[in-house]
Amino acid sequence: MIRFDFANIMQDRIGENGLTADDISAVAKLLPNAHSRFSGWRSSRDAIFYDIVFDDHLTIGIEEKAEEISENFDNLVVLGIGGSALGLRCAAQALLPPFWNIKTRNDRGGRPRLFVLDNIDPETFCSLTELIDPRRTCFTVISKSGKTTETAAQFFLVQKMLKEKSGGDWRNNLLIITDPSSGELRPLVEREKIPSFPLEPKLGGRFSFMSAVGLFPAACLGIDIRGLVEGAQAMARRCAEPDLDKNPAYALGAYHHRLDTKKGKRISVMFPYSDSLTLFSDWYAQLWAESLGKGGKGQTPVKALGATDQHSQVQLYMEGPADKVLTFIGVDEFRIPSSETRIEEVTESFGYLKGHDLGSIIRAEQMATAQALAKAGRPNLTVSLPRVDAHHMGELFMAYEIATALAGALYEINPFDQPGVELGKVLTREMLTKA
Ligand code: PA5
Repeated sequence: MIRFDFANIMQDRIGENGLTADDISAVAKLLPNAHSRFSGWRSSRDAIFYDIVFDDHLTIGIEEKAEEISENFDNLVVLGIGGSALGLRCAAQALLPPFWNIKTRNDRGGRPRLFVLDNIDPETFCSLTELIDPRRTCFTVISKSGKTTETAAQFFLVQKMLKEKSGGDWRNNLLIITDPSSGELRPLVEREKIPSFPLEPKLGGRFSFMSAVGLFPAACLGIDIRGLVEGAQAMARRCAEPDLDKNPAYALGAYHHRLDTKKGKRISVMFPYSDSLTLFSDWYAQLWAESLGKGGKGQTPVKALGATDQHSQVQLYMEGPADKVLTFIGVDEFRIPSSETRIEEVTESFGYLKGHDLGSIIRAEQMATAQALAKAGRPNLTVSLPRVDAHHMGELFMAYEIATALAGALYEINPFDQPGVELGKVLTREMLTKA
């Protein structure tokens, strides 16, 4: 079970920037209404992310198809953007060994390499298509709406390339994950008989990792998708009641909301202390920003990485504007035996390192930074994973999705839409039409 430590956001620990007993009672009073709003979103299926993990059909067909793709292809290229890419990128980084793509196929357990094209930079696109053999590549196109410019643009280029170079039926190198009825991709899937998984119509992109969007590509890579789902289920069960002491996701959402609206903490810094969790900050940044940034409300997410950013950003967090709340994500046990990185020989001035391994040093740095920030009166909280594995990642994703929905209820906004991105899309289309 992942653990949450909120002590360093409380006034008795950090002084005037922290939450008081009165703040906590005020938050507790708002909770029943926010909880019933969240329940309403579950009934209307806007918050279907919560219930979908209990659906027995969730993984049907996914593992079988993933085995087939994994056997037949050396490369899995995912075309998708935003919520259709970030969960997978985060899970792959967390759950695959580092340097996955440069390992041999044997060392990858017979699984494909992974490339996620979640931008339309022509240099990246062409460098990748030059590097891979299209005949040995499965392109998985993920677009909930089937209307996204960036994904469509890449898809058309890939389709042309496959028609010219796949050496067989180009459709066999494609798999499309999209809405079951609406959007531009579904008719194409039906017409061309392209392999496909449908998506729950009301499942929003940034809440969609626990669906074919994240689970299918993850399964192709040999990631334990059942572990992910079981972790998400465990967290959903743990966070069923509106009780701040028992429901850590509600506490996350509610305390962030309170720190923002009553203590001026307009910025939320996500600070994992493990390379495997770097992209969790990216996933969180999208979830927090796109869900909550509405009607002049919301908290600005910032990405950091420990221990690296102690030498880059921590000066600002200690002595800059007191407008931030920080979240440390720590790992109890790294997936390398401590004996492999134990330091035996040191110079005299580094004597304090002797006998320690890299895992214990990074953990000490995390705790020391949290303590230093608390002493400087800067609110921070810690989420601890016993280890980075599928179960705990499932817990983590679900905790933050629930926290986001709850915070949306407290801000009195709809966390499941993103009207603010529409105008840019309309203007892009206008510019390209005129050009
Ligand atoms: O969270 C969201 O809804 C967005 O970030 C979408 O995931 C993103 O815009 C991509 O949309 P689509 O999957 O429809 O191509």
